[in-house]
Amino acid sequence: MPVTLDRVEVVLGARRILGPLSLSLLPGSLTVVVGPNGAGKSTLVRAISGERPATGGSVRHDGADVAAMPAARLAGLRAVLPQASTVAFPFTVYEIVSLGLRMRAGLSPAGRRRAVAAALAAVDLEDFGARLYPELSGGEQQRVQLARVLCQVGDAVGEAGPKLLILDEPTASLDVRHQLDVLSIAKDFAEAGGVALAVLHDLNLAAGFADRMLVLDRGRLAADDAPDRVLSSGVLTQVFGVAMTVLSPQGWPRPAILPDLSACRSAPRG
Ligand SMILES: Nc1ncnc2c1ncn2[C@@H]1O[C@H](COP(=O)(O)OP(=O)(O)OP(=O)(O)O)[C@@H](O)[C@H]1O
Ligand SMILES: [Mg+2]
Repeated sequence: MPVTLDRVEVVLGARRILGPLSLSLLPGSLTVVVGPNGAGKSTLVRAISGERPATGGSVRHDGADVAAMPAARLAGLRAVLPQASTVAFPFTVYEIVSLGLRMRAGLSPAGRRRAVAAALAAVDLEDFGARLYPELSGGEQQRVQLARVLCQVGDAVGEAGPKLLILDEPTASLDVRHQLDVLSIAKDFAEAGGVALAVLHDLNLAAGFADRMLVLDRGRLAADDAPDRVLSSGVLTQVFGVAMTVLSPQGWPRPAILPDLSACRSAPRG
């Protein structure tokens, strides 16, 4: 049971932003978190990754408390793609991606070059190593950040056991093909024995790729179930305040979901 949350809560000032919340994330599984803006998804991600530890309860990776873990050990256990990354200096793509290798000891210079090249290939940016990061498009920058994270995490299972890959809105700036690529990377990581967690706003991508879906609403878990059960339960309509139709397209492996446009202030007409 590599990642266990026990009564995790985040209280900032007088505001309870998250929890209390208890759950386990299992190796071999891609868990997708959905929920409205401000629901606490990134707060949950930061608590799990140890970036901003919970103010109550505990997060344990294979029994070890994240809040007490040295940064170098944590960096070897998990990698996080944050929702937003800012790069102030004109680094090259190669330099940014190789930042992911800072904490990985024991790699030869050739091994480091291979790791960066493999990560760039995984995000479809093979020839971008010498380009300046600030001159890339938003989606290209996002894929560079993902390559950095992939470099950091390395194999899904290390000597210490399964690793954790966390992606906070990894598809927000991506075209549809690269959205599918990124979710495939997360799914492959899980299938190789790692623990994968992604925050998504696209409910169809969530339904299409998740093994398990968590619905966060005002810091609380409104649902934790297989995507087809979450979609058919009506909980998304409740949580987002938008009526939704669940479809089962022929030949499509998962349910799909359509928001009800007739409820819009200026509804498109057919
Ligand atoms: N450092 C902070 N101080 C005070 N409030 C904060 C802080 N960080 C986050 N919050 C608040 O906590 C709530 C949850 O924020 P969080 O970033 O986790 O939301 P989210 O679900 O990731 O939303 P989004 O979909 O917009 O990314 C929000 O209401 C936010 O304003
Ligand atoms: Mg967020």
